[in-house]
Amino acid sequence: MVTKQFACKALDVPSDAARIVVLGKLSIGLFKLNDGYHALLNVCPHRGAALCEGPVCGTTRQTDKPEFVYERAGELVRCAWHGWEFDIRTGEFLVDPKIRTRRFEVSVEGDDIYIHV
Ligand code: FES
Repeated sequence: MVTKQFACKALDVPSDAARIVVLGKLSIGLFKLNDGYHALLNVCPHRGAALCEGPVCGTTRQTDKPEFVYERAGELVRCAWHGWEFDIRTGEFLVDPKIRTRRFEVSVEGDDIYIHV
């Protein structure tokens, strides 16, 4: 059963890093992106590091020319242990979307943010 739990005030979520909140036994990273708030389980599916405590970043993509481009700035979180990059909106590992961390629905009521766990 999913329950809506108060996470924090909107002003407590930085725009360049996750706000880590603990709800029961779950550590959750709450992110503010340009389309709203997103919440991911703060556990990396690779080896269990605190994924959401890694940097919010973009990624490099190879082009058909001998160069790389940096894109998606601010839409990814990079695990601090081995550098795997995850889409903050979906929780998916960029290299293999079948590997993902759990995501949670988020709702905003006034200045209060709730995570549905
Ligand atoms: S534990 Fe996260 S990339 Fe290895």
